[in-house]
Amino acid sequence: MGLTKTSACSVVLLLVVAIDTGFSNPLKSKESWGYVDVREGAHMFWWLYYADSPSASYSQLPLVMWLQGGPGGSGCGFGNFEEIGPLDRDLEPRKNSWVQYSSVLFVDNPVGTGFSYTDSDEAFATDVATVASDMLVLLKQFFNKEEEFQSVPFYIFSESYGGKMAAAISLELTKAVEKGTLKCNFAGVALGDSWISPLDSVMTWGPYLYTTSLLDDYGLREVSSAAEAVKQAVDQGQYLKATELWSVTESVVEQNTNGVNFYNILTQEPDEKMSSVAGEGYICEMHFQLPLLMRHHISPLHRQSLSQLMNGPIRKKLGIIPQNVTWGGQAEAVFSSMSGDFMKPVVDVVDQLLDAGVNVTVYNGQLDLIVDTMGQEQWVKQLKWVGLQSFSQMKWTALDDPAFPGVTGAFYKTYKNFSFYWILKAGHMIPSDQGPMALQMLKMITQQD
Ligand SMILES: *[C@@H]1O[C@H](CO)[C@@H](O)[C@H](O)[C@H]1NC(C)=O
Ligand SMILES: *[C@@H]1O[C@H](CO)[C@@H](O)[C@H](O)[C@H]1NC(C)=O
Ligand SMILES: *[C@@H]1O[C@H](CO)[C@@H](O)[C@H](O)[C@H]1NC(C)=O
Repeated sequence: MGLTKTSACSVVLLLVVAIDTGFSNPLKSKESWGYVDVREGAHMFWWLYYADSPSASYSQLPLVMWLQGGPGGSGCGFGNFEEIGPLDRDLEPRKNSWVQYSSVLFVDNPVGTGFSYTDSDEAFATDVATVASDMLVLLKQFFNKEEEFQSVPFYIFSESYGGKMAAAISLELTKAVEKGTLKCNFAGVALGDSWISPLDSVMTWGPYLYTTSLLDDYGLREVSSAAEAVKQAVDQGQYLKATELWSVTESVVEQNTNGVNFYNILTQEPDEKMSSVAGEGYICEMHFQLPLLMRHHISPLHRQSLSQLMNGPIRKKLGIIPQNVTWGGQAEAVFSSMSGDFMKPVVDVVDQLLDAGVNVTVYNGQLDLIVDTMGQEQWVKQLKWVGLQSFSQMKWTALDDPAFPGVTGAFYKTYKNFSFYWILKAGHMIPSDQGPMALQMLKMITQQD
């Protein structure tokens, strides 16, 4: 999911039309799920699909943990049913499911996200350090319980704010494995459209939109000046203020682009009449500009509600969700608890990962605005990593789109422990936009191709 207040809400706002299908489990593969109490009053939900391949058993295939953004976006919901899980939101088999090549572990984190929940407001995480230590508790318990996964290569894949969490988690995980307090075969982290350097994203919004015919000179000036105010707040270490100004800059972008879709600049949704769809799914506060949100985040093509799916047939199937816990019910509280940490960069964490010998992949969608590729290039150039110069001097390699042989689907470049994938014709949610290409990338990163 996206990273905005708006997008933390969008999980819930996406769809509000009732779903009438029951859950008739069409899954052949094995799955399991559960809660881990990661702290007093903090309960984290996870959902594991065992790899389902005709040519190998799951113990011969890697394990991928998927982390969604927000913070507050649910991997067990959005990542699972809208992006990479074995079933799509209509509960039909997904053609490009990642479960064909790896076991996939979805975790609703930080606590309060998706089916995870806290007993009190004090239990929400307020920084990535807490997010990472919470996840370490979960992973320790997971690998102790599911011993057969201790030796399979373990990768963390992420999207959006999930990338910031993935970086921090990977560093703590590396330390824990070194110390022997956690048994797993950690093989690498992949940061997709990731909020690693928030300011670099915001500062490139203007130039990116200008070169793609979505801003004129007037708009460029407006957006650049709003972004400059964010920069000043970040430079002064005023991170909460920076988060507020970032949200203001989003509005300035919307006003000057006639409402560009932040997640894929080429797929603006047609205007929607609000009265027919506003309703029970709405949990966000009014200052998040509901009309724009509704226009941007609710697709008229979506006939079924992710929220209704999760709170209906899925919770029934899972059978362990406490009665008073609603999927997505605490999403906004998750975001606002983290809002003082939201604009802080974690570029130094990526440097520490590379120094520690962790394989790091950055992948980004060409049509993503909220975390545009230009911004990613900028923070990569700030790395202190010894390989940076050689990496920068290398020429990239083109990859065919597996769905359209002969047509370029991506470019990539690898030097030592660092790779970068430029995914074409994809926005923020790469597996949703370019499923076959995303699957190909998964195979390459996990050394199956
Ligand atoms: C759900 O109810 C239990 C008591 O039955 C309480 O301890 C818990 O905090 C509640 N959780 C939420 C998310 O309201
Ligand atoms: C990192 O990737 C390289 C291939 O690029 C591989 O040889 C190496 O084993 C990987 N490292 C780890 C820790 O898995
Ligand atoms: C990965 O990084 C470690 C630590 O810098 C280094 O020892 C190792 O050779 C690197 N791996 C590759 C494939 O270059």
